[in-house]
Amino acid sequence: MKKILVTGGLGYIGSHTVVELQAADYDVVVIDNLNNSKQSVKNRIEEISGQSFELCIGDVNDSEMLKSLFIKHAFEGVIHFAAHKAVGESVENPILYYQNNISGLISVLSTMEKFKVSNLVFSSSCTVYGAAADLPVTENTVIQQAESPYGTTKILGEDIINDFAKHKAFKSILLRYFNPVGAHPSAKIGELPLGIPNNLIPFVTQTAAGIRNELTVFGDDYSTEDGTCVRDYIHVVDLAKAHVKALSYCDEMHLKVDVFNVGTGKGNSVLEVINTFEKVNGLKLNYRIGPRRGGDIEQIYADTTKVNDLLGWSAQYGIADMMKHAWAWQQELE
Ligand code: WQD
Repeated sequence: MKKILVTGGLGYIGSHTVVELQAADYDVVVIDNLNNSKQSVKNRIEEISGQSFELCIGDVNDSEMLKSLFIKHAFEGVIHFAAHKAVGESVENPILYYQNNISGLISVLSTMEKFKVSNLVFSSSCTVYGAAADLPVTENTVIQQAESPYGTTKILGEDIINDFAKHKAFKSILLRYFNPVGAHPSAKIGELPLGIPNNLIPFVTQTAAGIRNELTVFGDDYSTEDGTCVRDYIHVVDLAKAHVKALSYCDEMHLKVDVFNVGTGKGNSVLEVINTFEKVNGLKLNYRIGPRRGGDIEQIYADTTKVNDLLGWSAQYGIADMMKHAWAWQQELE
């Protein structure tokens, strides 16, 4: 069995990816500092997969700890999720984001080099495109100045990996996620609510659960069909499966580094999401239209030709499934 290190493997996308890796017969080791997760997520993952895995509670910035893992295990590859990911927090505290996200990546790369581990799947984001002029965005769409330090850490991360791979026996796949939402159909894992949600879907489900009083739709005066912003929402299980495909593609690809948009290729507006949520779950959501949120782009959605053709992957779940699974997870949380 091929052994893979998953950094941040107890996190939202990480935990769903561990489930899919185990289903694909990979032997998984997770390192997670529990900064944005809980140790109990490990048991939930194992309940779903029926397989155990080794968990190292630690930080990828701890090079000694990383080294001890690479001495103990002959890894065939690494999937690197461990990073801070809250856009608003990154604006308030840029140093925390540069320190954690950039130094963490460098620590992983230098350890991989030391132990001659060559395959890395990197968690990047559509945020690198900023407000793209032409839609849908392809992987050749120009990368714009990031709207937040979080976005800058993704652009820098991609550049660091490209520079590192140039003269090394090393391959990497950069996955540019669109908007990950939803939860595992078993409702055993999902996005853990830590503080007031920044993102739309946790706010929707917490409002529906009565935890939040009212959802504010940030602006309905955009030049979109219904005036609200459009995003490419992708089910977290579909996103997880894309990582398994990327890992196996690493071995066969001729390039040192390649990049893929991982979205559904479909855009949905905020109001469409709300209406779908209400319809599939048979409930009424308490929301109002408020002012725009600073930094929001009007619309973005992916051209998924490359990931469909080269990785042989496409999203299987639609927005209705995402809303159904998101609500089922929220109800489990209460
Ligand atoms: C989606 C839409 C809001 C909350 C960010 C990061 C991106 C990725 C996903 C990490 C927007 C609207 C939201 C609310 C609202 N994160 N909204 N009321 O901003 O597209 O992307 O999260 O990788 O990198 O940039 O996601 O869910 O915050 O917002 O109307 O209470 O929902 O205005 O149009 P976003 P989001």
